Formats: sequence, structure tokens, C-alpha cells
Amino acid sequence: MVNLSTDVSGLLLKNPLVLASGILNQTSGSMLRILKDGAGAVTTKSVSIEPRKGYSNPTLVEVEHGLLNAMGLPNPGIEEYVKEIEELKNALKKEGICGVIIGSIVGKDEEEFVELAKRMKDAGVNALELNLSCPHAKGYGIELGSDPREVKKITNQVKSAITLPVWVKLPPIHQIVGAALAAEEGGADAVVAINTVRGMAINLENHMPILSNSVGGYSGPGIKPIGVRAVYEISKEINIPIIGCGGIICGEDLIEYILAGASAVEIGSAIYYRGTDVFRKISKESSEWLHKHGYNSLKEIIGLALE
Ligand SMILES: Cc1cc2nc3c(=O)[nH]c(=O)nc-3n(C[C@H](O)[C@H](O)[C@H](O)COP(=O)(O)O)c2cc1C
Repeated sequence: MVNLSTDVSGLLLKNPLVLASGILNQTSGSMLRILKDGAGAVTTKSVSIEPRKGYSNPTLVEVEHGLLNAMGLPNPGIEEYVKEIEELKNALKKEGICGVIIGSIVGKDEEEFVELAKRMKDAGVNALELNLSCPHAKGYGIELGSDPREVKKITNQVKSAITLPVWVKLPPIHQIVGAALAAEEGGADAVVAINTVRGMAINLENHMPILSNSVGGYSGPGIKPIGVRAVYEISKEINIPIIGCGGIICGEDLIEYILAGASAVEIGSAIYYRGTDVFRKISKESSEWLHKHGYNSLKEIIGLALE
């Protein structure tokens, strides 16, 4: 039996597969289902202080080798969303399931991040993810994640305010290594690379952008090489764990990210292609790969491509 368990700065996961923020995490019910379908942890939807309606439709379109979305960070606001986390925790307790919850938060400055972090901590999450990387919600993401001073300042303020592990989710910018170093200097426990890649699609018949917001974030198989490269380059420079993200659809995709230096991964678009039990499927496929290649545990191959 291959051991898939992993350790992200002291946070133990039974397997490295974490539900990515924004996909099936609006409610306690959908997150419970994902945990039952084999995920090692779930990340919540990115939650802001005030409710956000998000953009009008169309907000999601399938394109070549992936999906393009501009949801606009719709969420009910922290006040309402913590009820979903409490419900999820009660359901997990009742059913005797051990489920790790990562609270994703999104704000416009360090004050908002600190306030959100405190609320998430009170709700009982196991770790926090600072979303500094949304590619299409003006003032709420990629602008912060592209500026190392902001990354360091926000991470540092959150770390000073709470004792939970803090993951910093970065955008796929050219200078992602600089942003990762800034997160590490700010005290981050891990970085998540990458969020979606800015992209767009145009309808040839009416000559108009397909998404209502015109520009969106590209996810799925097409971005995997970008994510793997980001993890590989960051791994060489920082000493905190990396959670890989982007285009992981099958067991071999997971293995590639782990070889590049990731300790765990996040999975979103794969649910669209393979269903909610994609977590169980990827666990099986990666266990088979490890067994076939003579390994007893996932930990043995972390960062092998760097040597
Ligand atoms: C519909 C949709 C909504 C998303 N919403 C969020 C979000 O609220 N917060 C966030 O940090 N990332 C969000 N993402 C990005 C994903 O968490 C992930 O970083 C990205 O999709 C790449 O992984 P994938 O190729 O496995 O989907 C969203 C992605 C999609 C497709």
C-alpha cells in the first residue's frame, strides 16, 4: 500500500489533493461531498468582508484545453459564509469524518485581510489561504499579488494577528519567484502556485468577447506547464512548502507537480472533466504510478526534478 500522506508546514493531510477555491465550495453540502469523494482537504470559496454579487452571465466558457471564467468573486460575505463552515464542521463531526478546511479570503488591503482572517479562525478553519491572485476582480487580486511589498505586508499583518498556518496564493506573473520570496519573508507557511492565467475568447459571429467581463482566468490542462514551471522555479528559491495548482486532471499530472517540488496540490477544473470523485481517481492513479516505479510513499519523490 503506497502512503500518499503529506505534511504542509505541520498541517497533515491524508493525501495531497486539496479542492481549489471557487469550484463547488459555496456550501457546506458540496464541500462535504468533496471530502467524502476522497479529497485530503477543501479550500473554501474566496470570501470577502461584504457580499459580492459577481458578474452577470456568461461567466464561464469551455475553450481549447481548458475553461475560461470571470465569476467576479461572488460570495455571501464573511458574516453569512462562516455559517457554512460551522455547518460543515458539525456534519463532519456527526459522520465521524476527519476533514481539513482551508479558509480562502480576499480583501482590498491588509486591514480587510486581518479582519477576515480573524473571522475564519473563529469559525474553526485549519489554515488560511490569502487570495492575492484573482485575475479579473479589479483591486482584489492580481494587483496585490504582483507587488512584492504588498505580498509581504499583507502576509506579515495576517501572521501577526492569528496563529493559524497561512498559505499565500500567487498569480502566474513573470516575477512569481519574487512574490513567493516576499510571502516567505512575510512569514507565510506555504505558497500556492498558480491561480488562473488571464485570457479571453471572442465570438466570431457578433465580434464580441464571450465573457460579460471580457477578460477572465484560464484554467485546466492548458495551464499545467505554466504551473509546473512556477513550482519548479519557486522550489529552487524558498524553504517553505509549495502547493501546486493548475491543470491537474489525472495521477500523472499530480506526480509531475510533486517532482517539481510541490508538497500538495489543488484541483478545480478536473471536476468539470471527471466528476466530483476525481479525487479518489487521482489517488488511485498516482498510487499505481508510485508502486510501479518502486516508491512506497509520495514524500520520496518531492522535488526529485530539482536534483
Ligand atoms: C469557476 C472558477 C472559480 C474560481 N474562483 C476562485 C476563487 O474564488 N478564489 C481563488 O483563489 N481561485 C479561484 N479559482 C481558481 C482556482 O482555484 C485554480 O487556481 C485554477 O482554476 C487552476 O486550477 P485548475 O486548473 O485545477 O482549475 C477559480 C477557478 C474557476 C474555474
